[in-house]
Amino acid sequence: MDFIKVNTYEELSARAAAIICGQVAMKPQCVLGLATGSSPLGTYAIMAEKNKVGEIDFSRVKTVNLDEYVGLDSNHDQSYRYFMNHNLFHHINIDKSNTYVPNGCAKDIAAECEAYDKLIESLGGIDLQLLGIGYDGHIGFNEPDTQFEKATHKVTLDDSTIEANSRFFASRDDVPKTALTMGMGGIMSAKKVLLIANGKGKKDIVEKAFFGPITPEVPASILQLHPNLTVIYSEN
Ligand code: GLP
Repeated sequence: MDFIKVNTYEELSARAAAIICGQVAMKPQCVLGLATGSSPLGTYAIMAEKNKVGEIDFSRVKTVNLDEYVGLDSNHDQSYRYFMNHNLFHHINIDKSNTYVPNGCAKDIAAECEAYDKLIESLGGIDLQLLGIGYDGHIGFNEPDTQFEKATHKVTLDDSTIEANSRFFASRDDVPKTALTMGMGGIMSAKKVLLIANGKGKKDIVEKAFFGPITPEVPASILQLHPNLTVIYSEN
């Protein structure tokens, strides 16, 4: 594991964007696994800026996102599809038909999950997976559990996750209680994993996840077994 401690969120974002853009430069047709949450916002802004000035070309890149709330369609401003469109895809020269987010409004959720794993496989797997981390150690929406779940699946969100994410909704009651998430199989089979975390509030969980025991009670801890993991942490 490459654990990089930086001093500011700006530095974290610049380092993360440099790694992602490096991946795209090395393999212009690569598959990027992308994440939502507040952590990647700075990274996405820098990627968009680099694209704007012609430093990097996303025209052949494909993306797969980690997760989506059940019941929110792409027009809902808190859906992860909306988040990705507005914070990244609308600002770079990517072909939108090459961007994938699980469909939280699918009629047959089990079939949607199965199809999502098949899609990742058909794309040839993920070259670089970007991750944030929840306060309870979740990655994507893989919540603390008694076992690591391999496939894309439907999850019931923990109270602490609903509470943390309620800041984006009008009220706590508006936060969906369930979501679809890529499982640990999809995440761990990515060729490279880049996890970013910032803020004093994430310090304890970062220590537990990367320097504590590997346990499904701290889902991100499984990443210690990944052969090509970079973690960038900024306390500020
Ligand atoms: C959500 C997302 C995660 C993300 C987490 C942390 O629950 N499903 O993928 O990592 O939030 O978000 P933030 O970066 O805002 O702390």
